[in-house]
Amino acid sequence: MVYQNILLETKDRISILTINRPDKRNALNQATRDEILHVLDSLQGLTDSRVLIVTGAGDKAFIAGADISEFEGRTSLTQRDAMKSLRIFDAIEDFPKPVIAMINGFCLGGGLELALACDLRFASDNAKLGQPEINLGIIPGGGGTQRLTRLIGEGKSMELILTGDLIEARQAKELGLVNDVFALNELQDRVRVLAIRMAEKSPVALRMAKEAVKTASRMNLREGLNRETDLFCLTFGSEDKEEGVRAFLEKRKPDFKGR
Ligand code: COA
Repeated sequence: MVYQNILLETKDRISILTINRPDKRNALNQATRDEILHVLDSLQGLTDSRVLIVTGAGDKAFIAGADISEFEGRTSLTQRDAMKSLRIFDAIEDFPKPVIAMINGFCLGGGLELALACDLRFASDNAKLGQPEINLGIIPGGGGTQRLTRLIGEGKSMELILTGDLIEARQAKELGLVNDVFALNELQDRVRVLAIRMAEKSPVALRMAKEAVKTASRMNLREGLNRETDLFCLTFGSEDKEEGVRAFLEKRKPDFKGR
């Protein structure tokens, strides 16, 4: 597939998916969503791609939300139809490899919801984040009311969603909404270094670890602990576990194959 709205590069086992509509502040239209789903599908089984970074083109925006021009004239029914297919947010959350949001500017509405579906979020110091849907007379519909609330709590989530106010990257870090903040010109290098460190781990263990942590917000404690036990035991069936343990005992670096 030739992509019109995104760029994809894979190097050093790291894939970078860049939303490439800088003139529209990388707003997500349907064509872009379809391309993101296609990329996720194509990277799933690619052993040379172990960590995915999502970012936006240019230095102004990560993603300024859903493409508002597609909302005009939509009714409840046509909007419901438009949301029937697999959603990028869920596809990212369920992607079996770590996904990092590299937030290089405005991260609004569906852009923040996409970042919330990722496993880690790093922002540039010029980034601004928010759920401004209320200003359009609508509410977050890409998981914002649920994932934001689970991440930062009901009080702060209410404040952001009911006011539509944007916050600075530094405030987002204080809230635990982003993991860290870097100068814009350092962001890519800092995130890449972290991604490379993760890409050296066992892909099997990364996948199980991601699923186990996600379980904490999907199940009650007893179910979550049982699921963790299952996933922990599953890692014992991998060649990577044998390699990791042997490498430790032989005092060398493990070479994980993802099996
Ligand atoms: N959907 C569609 N187009 C968008 C967009 C969006 N979410 N965000 C920005 N754009 C477009 C603008 O319409 C403009 O297009 P034009 O040049 O054809 O007129 C272009 O991107 C640049 O936007 P502009 O507002 O001039 O840039 P800015 O740097 O001054 O401001 C934002 C950037 C992100 C603060 C501002 O564009 C904005 O508030 N966007 C909407 C954010 C939003 O409400 N998101 C939630 C959607 S549910």
